Amino acid sequence: MEQFVMKKERDNETLVTEFILLGFKTLPELQTPIFVIFLAIYMVTVAGNILIATAVLADHRLHKPMYFFLGNLSILEICYTSTTLPKLLASLLSEYHGISFSGCFLQFYFFGCFACTECYLLSVMSYDRYVAICKPLHYVTLMNSRLCVQLSVAPWIIGAVLPAITAFCASHLDFCGPNEIDHFICDYTPLLMLSCGETQQAEMLMTVVGFAGIMPPLILTLTSYACIINTILKIPSNSCRKKAFSTCSSHLIVVTIFYGTLIIVYMLPNTDTLRDLNKIFSLCYTILTPMFNPFIYSLRNRDFKQALTKAFSKFVPERTMEGNQMHQN
Ligand SMILES: *[C@@H]1O[C@H](CO)[C@@H](O)[C@H](O)[C@H]1NC(C)=O
Repeated sequence: MEQFVMKKERDNETLVTEFILLGFKTLPELQTPIFVIFLAIYMVTVAGNILIATAVLADHRLHKPMYFFLGNLSILEICYTSTTLPKLLASLLSEYHGISFSGCFLQFYFFGCFACTECYLLSVMSYDRYVAICKPLHYVTLMNSRLCVQLSVAPWIIGAVLPAITAFCASHLDFCGPNEIDHFICDYTPLLMLSCGETQQAEMLMTVVGFAGIMPPLILTLTSYACIINTILKIPSNSCRKKAFSTCSSHLIVVTIFYGTLIIVYMLPNTDTLRDLNKIFSLCYTILTPMFNPFIYSLRNRDFKQALTKAFSKFVPERTMEGNQMHQN
């Protein structure tokens, strides 16, 4: 412990310059299986999302608002998991679980950025589906390229600004030890619990910012899906209704899990039972949604599957003909 805390005596006060992320240290016998699972998840997430973003950019049939949003979501998911998983993987491998003071708050900031961007981008995607399904005749005029660019840029801007407020505020709290964070990322609640100063204002601010980051997109998403379901229920053909409903319900499931766990962790009061469960809930929105989102949004989509098949069929004959030169393509 001593070596991780650089103690600086200042008026009887010791200042923490490094935090220890306990992560899954309470399960020492499971470190290797957890490492293998998380490494696999990280590789699938990055590879899958790169594939989707490349397909969107490369295939002109996918140059439509819905796929642009999907491509942006894929890029976002790569950034998002890369703020947490590499650090977690590294600490699962080694005995050293420390993270520097600035590293911790950088992770806190960037994680907040991408989480907030994701909330807003998911709501933009649901709005896009709402216009396509409920106002099909106006889709082309409403979702013009200008609005489309604005709608894909806005989530990134909101995501960059909102968490900056909380990260700035949290990094100015007093930390005088202990410095062990009982979590696998530098998150707000575990950090606040370590602070030795006045945290009431920071807590209030966090609640307000959390509310601004989660509630508007959540309300927009729920309203969009309510209108979509309402429209779908009116479709006379049974098989069409089923098909539309299955696409929509898979979106709804991932969206519910993402927002639901975010709300449980960031907006419910921090009781003892919840605190233990929070680590598990956090796994849902830090690791599982980035892996499943793009697949659920793309693989249930016929145009997308065709584009992927086409892209693959281009490569497969070349590979058989050129043998081991394939990696040069
Ligand atoms: C992100 O959205 C913008 C604007 O709609 C689009 O031009 C861009 O191609 C998208 N990026 C990806 C990777 O799909």
